[in-house]
Amino acid sequence: MITEALKEEKITKVNPPIIIVNYKVYPQAIGENALRLTEIIEDIANSYESITFAIAVQPTDIFRVAQIVEKTLVFAQHIDPVTPGAHTGSILPEAVRLSGAVGTLINHSERPLPLDVIEATVKRAKEVGLITTVCADSPKKSEQVTKFRPLFVAYEPPELIGTGISVSKAKPEVLREAVIKVNNAGNGEVIPLCGAGISTKEDVVRALELGTKGILVASAVVKAKDPGSILQSFAEGIVEYMEGL
Ligand code: G3P
Repeated sequence: MITEALKEEKITKVNPPIIIVNYKVYPQAIGENALRLTEIIEDIANSYESITFAIAVQPTDIFRVAQIVEKTLVFAQHIDPVTPGAHTGSILPEAVRLSGAVGTLINHSERPLPLDVIEATVKRAKEVGLITTVCADSPKKSEQVTKFRPLFVAYEPPELIGTGISVSKAKPEVLREAVIKVNNAGNGEVIPLCGAGISTKEDVVRALELGTKGILVASAVVKAKDPGSILQSFAEGIVEYMEGL
């Protein structure tokens, strides 16, 4: 059975720091444009050995982008906690994995799920060896979802998403609270990330200073005239932060 076979497959190991670029459904990041953007990201990923890069793409683009990456990890933006069978229209975790994705976002605030569904989805993702990144819109939700033991929990205040106003600058104390909750509830086994409005190298550095191990970003990269130079500046921020430790 597919699920059993996938369990035997090598699980991708991920080391923070990580930059996850969420393609959402931006026209600049679907179809042929997804390939173009992915080539740019893969080039940068190859220049920064110590940083993990991931892209969260449309389900219809997973297979094509997975063909052109070696360093960049491909994530789904969402999966459904179904098993192989009669579930028309669902995104089957096994199918995502077989298409070349190695991870998935879960509960993005643009695709929110009830807590019990988040738990079931994390469980199903783990069954097929997908890296789990659960998003949370508050410190309390961050703590709740940490108990399901995903690999990453990303705090993203919805009101800052897409605004260019960074979570790490606008809500440092709330972000810090979310990080502490994830670290405590996860016994250090769950890795805190953040996202929303991240636009500059300074936003990235500040996020790391507050205890996260990486970021989720969308508009600043995907909608940029020169996505490569923005992403490179984020990577430089991470390198500078790590060198200063
Ligand atoms: O998943 C990342 C996202 O929600 C943040 O979006 O456009 O504020 O970087 P953006």
